[in-house]
Amino acid sequence: MIAVAVIVAAGKGERFGDASKVLTPLLDRPVLAWTLDAFEHATSVTEIVLVVGEHTMVPISELLALRSWTKVRQIVLGGDTRQQSTANGVRAAREDAEIVLVHDAARPLVNSDQIDATVSAAAKSGGAILAAQVTDTIKRCIEGQIVETIDRSTLWQAQTPQVFNMKLMAEMIALAQSGDVLMTDEASLAEHLGYPVTIVPSDSTNLKITHPHDVLVAEAILRARKEATS
Ligand code: CTP
Ligand code: MG
Repeated sequence: MIAVAVIVAAGKGERFGDASKVLTPLLDRPVLAWTLDAFEHATSVTEIVLVVGEHTMVPISELLALRSWTKVRQIVLGGDTRQQSTANGVRAAREDAEIVLVHDAARPLVNSDQIDATVSAAAKSGGAILAAQVTDTIKRCIEGQIVETIDRSTLWQAQTPQVFNMKLMAEMIALAQSGDVLMTDEASLAEHLGYPVTIVPSDSTNLKITHPHDVLVAEAILRARKEATS
């Protein structure tokens, strides 16, 4: 089964305060290097399309030249939205791809077992994403007043990878390009089209580097993992 991973790294890191967010060091290695390692080691992934920004094209090319991730076959430019960046990456995937995985470069702590499990679930149902069960109590509020407490046992936080059958992904991209919907993740597009999307349970360690303090948490997790394996 040919599975292509589209790793989107073309964002501007506005909340992080640095447009080169995906190159920020985590224990002395760039965020993107950790992310690429996980996909390089995932046996279900055939090859990688890396989506970069104009502002990071040069440093990312230098990083790739330093260390060979053998699965990175293409580097393409992203767009103004994550959705556009995803579309550019998927369009660049080889024609015989059966499965496409979309992953945020800013989630460097994903591991290869999680990637393989998500691909396996998507191969069965057509679509699957990693997600973490919500642990906080969630309130719905209007104008600063609580309206209700939502039953958290049914709530999951969507993460990446988000993995789909290529034909379904092409339909999802056509929907996105129609301009009728702007969604923050791929699963929302599949839901909109009425396709089932399976949840593969993850946890909060598959965090997205969004704000500067996320680096501290990610480094603590990486240190603990190193200790556990040494
Ligand atoms: N991304 C992308 N193209 C965009 C926007 C986002 O490829 N136009 C990528 C980011 O590089 C990141 C992932 O999508 O790996 C998740 O996005 P996010 O964490 O929001 O990163 P940024 O968009 O860079 O951050 P911000 O929203 O704070 O500007
Ligand atoms: Mg963003």
